[in-house]
Amino acid sequence: MKINKCLFPAAGYGTRFLPVTKAMPKEMLPILTKPLIQYGVEEAVEAGMHTMAIITGRGKRAIEDHFDISYELEHQIQGSSKEHLLTEIRALISKCTFTYTRQIEMKGLGDAILKGEVLIGKEPFAVILADDLCINEEGSGVLTQMLKLYQKYKCSIVAIMEVPIEETYKYGVIDGKELEDGVFMVTEMVEKPEPSEAPSNLAIIGRYILTPDIFSVLKSTKPGKNGEVQITDALMTLARTGMVLACKFKGKRFDCGSVEGYVEATNYLYNLEREK
Ligand code: UTP
Repeated sequence: MKINKCLFPAAGYGTRFLPVTKAMPKEMLPILTKPLIQYGVEEAVEAGMHTMAIITGRGKRAIEDHFDISYELEHQIQGSSKEHLLTEIRALISKCTFTYTRQIEMKGLGDAILKGEVLIGKEPFAVILADDLCINEEGSGVLTQMLKLYQKYKCSIVAIMEVPIEETYKYGVIDGKELEDGVFMVTEMVEKPEPSEAPSNLAIIGRYILTPDIFSVLKSTKPGKNGEVQITDALMTLARTGMVLACKFKGKRFDCGSVEGYVEATNYLYNLEREK
């Protein structure tokens, strides 16, 4: 079955970026001239998806406005030397349908994904956390790589990367049986474990392919770590009853939800641009 929809949970408060995120969504932070979420939408389009389902919250209106026409501005620069600056975003908008719903209370990533059920329905879908910026200069994007695997195994998949063991407390961490090079069948999944309790150093990053049965599991998943409904807990339930895969991806990932990762990503893409 083809995957057409990509869900973007974008309701979080982005507290690590305060005060800038007080009135502005974290997902709209610019990396050079594009906001983070635009990179995510581009990755989804590259993977053949054309419906972007965005979970927003209070103070996130700028996301909707970004993926819309700005009549006054566009009229103003029409025919001028600056018109080309909007070519890319216009083309992207014309390829996609954007749908939105709000998460009213920020009860965690699992809860945000559950709120997406109304936009997704009963089909498999992708999830991108826009603050995880993934770039693969050598070939296809992370979501495209995961889709190939989905066509083969037809089950939920998380993207993983090796992290220093002292950093496991920042991530969901998996353990599993390696089925093929870099592809693991998940046997354990722990949310933000201390290094001494981490089952491995394989950390989940913000890319998922989920089968629609995740919604019913999420409905019965109790709040876990930090009192939030955790997607890792729901995926562990799926892994127990069926199969969940974890795949190492090709490319670079920047944690743009942290100031350090954000600056790194900016420098990296700036240098790439300069080399062009
Ligand atoms: P993060 O924990 O990275 O985002 O959640 P945050 O909570 O916004 O950031 P900090 O830690 O306060 O700085 C991962 C993703 O899940 C979304 C966030 O928007 C982000 O994309 N999220 C998280 C929701 O949509 N709703 C939630 O209740 C929690």
